[in-house]
Amino acid sequence: MNYQSCSANAPGKIILFGEHAAVYGRPAIAIPVTQVKAIAEISPSFGNEIRILAPDIHIDSTLHELPANHPLAALLNLIQNTYKINDFEAFTIRVHSTIPVAAGLGSSAAVSVAITRAISQFFGLALDNPQISNLVYEIEKIQHGSPSGIDNSVITYQQPILFQRDLPILPINLTQPFTFLVGDTGIPSKTSASVGKVRKAREMELDRYNQYFDEIAAITVKAKNILEGSGTITQLGELLNQNHGILQKIGVSCHALDTLVTTAIDSGAYGAKLCGGGDGGNMIALVSEKTIEKVRAALIVAGAVRVITTNIEPTGQAHG
Ligand code: MEV
Repeated sequence: MNYQSCSANAPGKIILFGEHAAVYGRPAIAIPVTQVKAIAEISPSFGNEIRILAPDIHIDSTLHELPANHPLAALLNLIQNTYKINDFEAFTIRVHSTIPVAAGLGSSAAVSVAITRAISQFFGLALDNPQISNLVYEIEKIQHGSPSGIDNSVITYQQPILFQRDLPILPINLTQPFTFLVGDTGIPSKTSASVGKVRKAREMELDRYNQYFDEIAAITVKAKNILEGSGTITQLGELLNQNHGILQKIGVSCHALDTLVTTAIDSGAYGAKLCGGGDGGNMIALVSEKTIEKVRAALIVAGAVRVITTNIEPTGQAHG
C-alpha cells in the first residue's frame, strides 16, 4: 500500500446542561465548539519507528519510549490491536491543539478523535463515528476515571446532542441560532478530580445527590424542548441559572466561577452556568446580539482570562 500524508481535526465542546448528572445516567446536552480545535497530521517515514510529536505537551518521542498507559500510546496500541494492523507502517504523527487544557472544553477527547481520524485515513480503515467514539471513550477512561462518554460523543459527531449513557446519541434539531460566551476562569481543573469528588460525596449522601441529578435531568429535558422550538430564550437562560444553582449545591462551583456567572447575568445575559467538571475551567453565558459585547467586557473585568464566542445554528454546527 502506498501511504499518503493526511491530517484530521476535531473541535472542542461545551456542555450546556447536565454535567456530572451524565455520569449517573441522566441526560445531558453538549455542543461542539469549532473555534478551537485539535489537529493531527500523519506522514510516512523511513525505518520502523512511529514518532509522536506533540510540542504543546512537550512530547517528541517514539511510540516505544512512551509508557504504555500514556493516553497517546494507549490510543495507538488500541487502534492497532482492534483493527489488527499487524505492524504499523513507520509514520510520524504531529499533534497540535488550540483547545485550552484542563478547562472543561474537551481537549483530551479532541486530540484522541483527531488522531483516530487521521490514522483511519492513513491506513484506509474508514472508521465510522460510532467506532471512533468508542475507541476514544476507552482512552477517556484512562484519563478521566469514570467519564460518561459525552465528550468523545459530541466531539466525534460534531453536532449538538442529547447524550444519555448506554442510549443512542440523539441529535438536537435547533429551530433558531443561539450565541454563547465561554469565559475561562484561568484556573486549571481536572475532570477526573471533580468527578472523583462528586463520586465520594454521593457515596456519603446517596439520596440527596440522586435528587440533585434528577433535578438536573428535568432541567435538561426542558432545555432540549426549548432548543427544539417550544419555549423562549428567556426560559432557556433561566434553566442555565437553575442548573448552575444545583451544581453549586453538588459542590463543583468555586468563587471564580460564581463571580463570572453572576457578572454575566448582571450585565444582561439570559442566563449562565459553569460548564464541564467545574472547580475552575470555563463558564458559559447565553447572550443576544444586543448584550454580547457588554457581557464580554464585564467578564474580562471580572477576571476571565479568555472569552470565546460560539454560535449554534439550526444546521447543527457550532461556529466560532
Ligand atoms: C465533563 O465534560 C463532563 C462531566 O459530566 C464528566 C462526564 O460526563 O464524563 C463532568
